[in-house]
Amino acid sequence: RIYPVILSGGSGTRLWPLSQSHRPKQFVPVVTDKSMIQETILRVAGQPEFLQPIIVSGQTQGHLVTEALDGIGVEPAAVLLEPAARNTAAAVAIAAHWIARNDPGAMMMVMPSDHVIKDLDSLYVAIRSAAQAALAGRLVTFGIQPTHPETGYGYIERGSPLEDLAAVHQVLSFHEKPSLPLATRYFEGGQHYWNGGMFLFLADAYLAALGEHAPEVAAASAAAMDDALVEGSTVRPGAEAFMAGPDISIDHAVMEKAVNAAVVPVDMGWSDVGSWDALWTIQTRDERDNAVQGDGVVIDGEGNLIYVSDGPPVAAWGLRDCVIVSTADGILTAPRHRSQDVKKIVDFLKRRN
Ligand code: GDD
Ligand code: MG
Repeated sequence: RIYPVILSGGSGTRLWPLSQSHRPKQFVPVVTDKSMIQETILRVAGQPEFLQPIIVSGQTQGHLVTEALDGIGVEPAAVLLEPAARNTAAAVAIAAHWIARNDPGAMMMVMPSDHVIKDLDSLYVAIRSAAQAALAGRLVTFGIQPTHPETGYGYIERGSPLEDLAAVHQVLSFHEKPSLPLATRYFEGGQHYWNGGMFLFLADAYLAALGEHAPEVAAASAAAMDDALVEGSTVRPGAEAFMAGPDISIDHAVMEKAVNAAVVPVDMGWSDVGSWDALWTIQTRDERDNAVQGDGVVIDGEGNLIYVSDGPPVAAWGLRDCVIVSTADGILTAPRHRSQDVKKIVDFLKRRN
């Protein structure tokens, strides 16, 4: 019995102008005609291992979650609405408490709401191995083969395979978002995976690890769930208690410290769509490496991403390695390799307003 636990709290500003703070990227149809959170839910809905999903999101995004669920006709087990963001350690903790109280002994599969996974069969195979290790009390991560020294990910050092489960390895160390020199060393050493941001464990195993390594998060989330307001499947954790907890990610709070972590390597066409460049990487491209989505055209250019949603059509002439995005909210043009810097544009626009 596994509950999908879908985390939807990020603002995804690096995909401006498509992703905005009032409608973050997980609620936007970026890659297909469904939004990324809908794609995430459908990835597991109907799979035999999985129960109904639990969505954890911010109070201000409650209506977007409802709209997304209605759009695909999925009934959630619970929608947990945080009064304010306290990062992923707490978001996962309130879901773990919900499970421990409503369905003791069940497992949870934590999934970000803003990733693309192309090869679902490989994911399902990995989940089956992971579930066996999770049942034995392990905190299981999913390891992606790194392709470059990216500093925005967690790095998992692979140990030997588990005795009874060859597809699952011990984790020797977990390093969240290392510096570039370290990321380069990890990448070149060949012993590290990227953390795919998904986790599978017994709710009780997570709560035990949290109590040991991050007791303040454990206490705040337990108290917030004691004070929760429940209305049908909507759960509002007590605001005062929840907000008293620290702002820390599951990676820093638990995974870097846990001694019972494990990793299942999986090659599943994974991307966290963290930037326009990342989106270009996963899009189908023409023979000159241009990816065009929507009403756009490239003439005599190469390596470009043209993305038109509800903005004016785009014609790009003689450009190389550029991104042009056209929406009703704004137009972005940038060198593709600098699309991580889009965050700075958003900060600039905020200051100007
Ligand atoms: N409900 C809720 N509340 N969700 C949250 C919150 C919160 O306070 N903060 C973040 N999330 C959601 C985001 O929307 C996203 O879906 C997921 O949790 C992960 O958060 P990110 O902020 O995107 O984390 P990251 O990308 O910096 O790092 C994580 O993912 C990487 C892979 O993409 C880490 O797990 C890294 O180790 C990993 O490599
Ligand atoms: Mg992310």
